[in-house]
Amino acid sequence: MSDAHSQALAAALRLNPRHDLPEVMQAATQHLWLHASPWQALTTRSDRRLLVSGHGCTVVDAHGKTYLDALSGLWLVNVGHGRQAIAEAMAQQARTLAYASASRATTLPAIQLATLLAELAPGDLSTVLLSSGGSEAVESALKITRQYHTLRGESERYKVISRRGSYHGATYGAMSVSGAPQSVDPYYSPLVPGGLTVSAPYCYRCDYRKTYPSCDVYCVEAIEDLLIYENPRTVAAVIAEPISAACGVVVPPPEYLPRLRDICDRHGVLLIFDEIITGFGRTGKMFAAEHWDVVPDIMTLAKGLSSGYAPIAATVCRTAIARQFDSAQEHALAHLLTFGGQAVACAAALANVQILIQEDLVANAAAQGQYLLTRLHELATRHPTVGDVRGLGLLCALELVQDRRSKEPFVAEGPESRRLLDILAELGMLTRADTNLYLAPPLCIQRHEVEQLIAMVDAGLTQFEHECAYL
Ligand SMILES: Cc1ncc(COP(=O)(O)O)c(C=O)c1O
Repeated sequence: MSDAHSQALAAALRLNPRHDLPEVMQAATQHLWLHASPWQALTTRSDRRLLVSGHGCTVVDAHGKTYLDALSGLWLVNVGHGRQAIAEAMAQQARTLAYASASRATTLPAIQLATLLAELAPGDLSTVLLSSGGSEAVESALKITRQYHTLRGESERYKVISRRGSYHGATYGAMSVSGAPQSVDPYYSPLVPGGLTVSAPYCYRCDYRKTYPSCDVYCVEAIEDLLIYENPRTVAAVIAEPISAACGVVVPPPEYLPRLRDICDRHGVLLIFDEIITGFGRTGKMFAAEHWDVVPDIMTLAKGLSSGYAPIAATVCRTAIARQFDSAQEHALAHLLTFGGQAVACAAALANVQILIQEDLVANAAAQGQYLLTRLHELATRHPTVGDVRGLGLLCALELVQDRRSKEPFVAEGPESRRLLDILAELGMLTRADTNLYLAPPLCIQRHEVEQLIAMVDAGLTQFEHECAYL
């Protein structure tokens, strides 16, 4: 090794927040670019921080302050922090064989994981393509969809319908089927062609100015109207989160998803459920689709699949889709991701799902989530900035408004929501806020921690409203 290389290595490994925190922060500011952030955000933005450890529902920052992790990192640490069993499973697999290949060979943990997901997934969702993150799972779903239609002789099907306000990932294909307003993403046009959007089933602010149930769930009929207008034979898929976190934890009316399934079936359009946030117990069922008994054609999974212990994702397909990629006819999927099915990540996911099942965390999410939601509804009556309370299981949001009667919103990620996050962090709680305050703690949360969370939200909103001169 050259001297320069040795010095570079020594300088990097010397960084240690316990010995010299300012030096670590200086290095981070110079060299580490946080996602969705200006370059030096770690030191210039109060809502960015260096975390050093975690246990259960709590994390500790470099100053030694402990926080309740009310967003499970980024909606994903479902089994909680500091799980030794996952660390050990990963170490064991890394010692044995860390990597085989994504296309020419595989490993036992990849086979075991695919088998487990096929067993857990609803209906005949049984063929599993592994990748490393949610965006890749969505890209894979889109490419499988396009190739599936082409192999069946319907190559003209290329359009994909998504809901406005939804988020399906950061890569180009996933972005192109996400429902961000054009004004929000001004840098990346033109997107991949074929992305169409419809309004979400967002009853608090219905785009059609209708009210449930007298609306007869017009928002799902609007999807069929759009399909017919566009010519159904050009539409490949509808992609939707069963409960959209990005739209503000929008829980659809009971009829919405069964009717969407029916519409897709009648027009030969595939239905993709993005369960990247909602999967693995988050909503009080293993997969949110189970609340409505609807089986999509393709389901995308990531986040809670490993609870963040390793980057891993899955695209799970129904048998009829996999069958089109027929060995006899050499119909290979034209898609290869090097880290797909990486053995250590698969071992982490297996150990993670084992904890979910053995500790019955899905049932805990249902029970604690129901309690949390009830308490949030009570709390909302005391806080004029809370316009609406939504959620299912441990996926909840409080919609923040300047005025409850006019429903005038705050600016998304504007100074108010940042101030609220600062207040909550001072009180010992980390989460995320835009026009909503999101609450999605780890599924291992216990009743006393739910009480702590509610007490902090209550105190935080009181201080926030006082500062905003609401009281
Ligand atoms: C519903 C949904 N789909 C896809 C993604 C993209 O996942 P990733 O960030 O792992 O690429 C996200 C990320 O938050 C998501 O919430």
